[in-house]
Amino acid sequence: MSTDAAIRAADTRAEGRALSAAAATAGHAPSIHNTQPWRWRVAGNELDLYLDHSRSLEITDPDSRFGVLSCGAALHHALVSLAAAGWHTLVVRTPNPAHPDHLAQVRLDHRIPVTPAAVRRLHTIALRHTDRRPVVSAPVAADKLHAIVTAVESAGAHLHLLHPNQVYDLATAVDHAQRTEAAEVAWQAELAYWTGGTRPLGTGIPDSAIGDRAPQTTVPGRDFGHYGDLPISEAHENAATFAILYGLEDGRLDWLRAGETLSAAWLNATELGISVLPLSATIEVAVTREHLRRLLADLGHPQLVLRFSTADPTGAAAPHTPRIPAEQVIERA
Ligand SMILES: Cc1cc2nc3c(=O)[nH]c(=O)nc-3n(C[C@H](O)[C@H](O)[C@H](O)COP(=O)(O)O)c2cc1C
Repeated sequence: MSTDAAIRAADTRAEGRALSAAAATAGHAPSIHNTQPWRWRVAGNELDLYLDHSRSLEITDPDSRFGVLSCGAALHHALVSLAAAGWHTLVVRTPNPAHPDHLAQVRLDHRIPVTPAAVRRLHTIALRHTDRRPVVSAPVAADKLHAIVTAVESAGAHLHLLHPNQVYDLATAVDHAQRTEAAEVAWQAELAYWTGGTRPLGTGIPDSAIGDRAPQTTVPGRDFGHYGDLPISEAHENAATFAILYGLEDGRLDWLRAGETLSAAWLNATELGISVLPLSATIEVAVTREHLRRLLADLGHPQLVLRFSTADPTGAAAPHTPRIPAEQVIERA
């Protein structure tokens, strides 16, 4: 092999390694019920992202809105990994209208300098997690909320921070949504399939991440239909800030963008010492989704409700949820 050919072969191997590492890092992304509904394909200098229907929620998420949103979060995680490896990328979202489950194609474009901020962001991925514990009493500082709103806007979506009296409207809507879902046997069965126990297959929400009793709240958290092992204190969530992540339209591309934005905002929040809890029940049920749209004064389409709170200063965190081994979701051409 000539020297040029050997250099090209080494470059191709390095590109493949960077893309595989990005897809593996993306596995840490948050997803509804920890379904991890993504599949990756590495080919040359390209990485393709697909929605995997074998891990989607047929009853809770018949349109795949949350599946696509979860894939958007994974896409953002992959891009964080590539930036920290010194790659500028070109991304085409929903590249193939004939195959709507092909959600994105990422191409390595050229090398860029690695910044400390990019490396820090990559490390933050391992620290981020869903926090279902009660909120500590210190409210989130206004400048930190402002930083998160800015992160959301620059990632292409919008965040409406709820006024305290709108929080009661939200609480009513969550209660209505959860009652509607709990009345459906098929919905309960799907929830039971994905939550509870120890989750040896690497998907779903284990009991270690579900409260051992109902926390004191104005806005109810997800009703998992049973209690888990996560110790819950007497604290109330009065100090939390609730927000609605929204987009201007309501199609696949908007859901994908909402997921990328969720990841950007959540990693930013983690670096600022702010806990995040997504609440999707009101968006899952059409009537309450419409209710939230009115709460937004028709500014846009609600994609996800988020609870922000000051992270527990003791540093104690809920245990991390399991993940599917990377080799099960990454195909190499
Ligand atoms: C689109 C979406 C919707 C979610 N909805 C809820 C929810 O309603 N209640 C909840 O407790 N967690 C919710 N979560 C958090 C997931 O359960 C969590 O991301 C997943 O179990 C993985 O755990 P981790 O975030 O700690 O890594 C949601 C996450 C996503 C991405």
